[in-house]
Amino acid sequence: MTMELTGRAAHRAEITARAEAEMAAMGVDVAFIDRLVETFYGHIVQHPDLGPVFDRRLSGRWPAHMVKMKAFWASVAFKTGAYGGKPVQAHHGVDGMAEGLFLQWLQLFSDTLTEIGATEEAHRWFLTSAERIAKSLVLSLFYNPALDDPRLQKAP
Ligand code: HEM
Repeated sequence: MTMELTGRAAHRAEITARAEAEMAAMGVDVAFIDRLVETFYGHIVQHPDLGPVFDRRLSGRWPAHMVKMKAFWASVAFKTGAYGGKPVQAHHGVDGMAEGLFLQWLQLFSDTLTEIGATEEAHRWFLTSAERIAKSLVLSLFYNPALDDPRLQKAP
C-alpha cells in the first residue's frame, strides 16, 4: 500500500515536472499566469457586454474569483490539480449569459495574451485550451437536441 502511494506520488510529481518544463520553454511561469489573469479580468470588468454579466454575479466576491482563476490556469498549465472546482456548474444560472458572449470572451483573452507579450507558442496553447473549455461550456449551457438536425450541418 505504502509503495503504491509512493509510486503514485512520484508519478504525479513527474507529470508536474514535465508540464513545468514544457511551460517554461514557452515562457510560462507562475508570474505569467498572475499577469494573464489580472490583465484579462481588468479588461473583463471594463467590457460593455461581459463586464455587467461578471459583476452582477461576482459583486463582493472578486478577490476570491481572482484567486480561483489563478489556481485554475496554474492547474491547467502545470497539471498540478490545485483547482478542484466545478466550472460547468459555476456557469449555470448566470444572469445575462448568452452564447455570443463566448466569442467576445475568447477575443478578449487572445488580445490579452498579445498585450502581455505571450510567446507565439504560449498564445496558441492558452487560446486552444480556452477554446476547448469554452466549447464544452457552450454545449453544456446551450445544447438543444431539437436543433441538432444533421441536414442542417454545414459541409466541412
Ligand atoms: C461568456 C463567457 C463567460 C462568462 C460570462 C463567464 C462568467 C463566469 C462567472 C460569472 C463566474 C463566477 C461564478 C461564481 O463564482 O458564481 C465564472 C467562473 C469561472 N469561469 Fe467563467 N465565464 C465565461 C467563460 C469562461 C471560459 C471560456 C472559461 C475557461 C476557459 C471559464 C472558466 C471559469 C472558471 C474556472 C470559473 C470558476 C468556477 C468555480 O467556481 O470553480 N469561464 N465564470
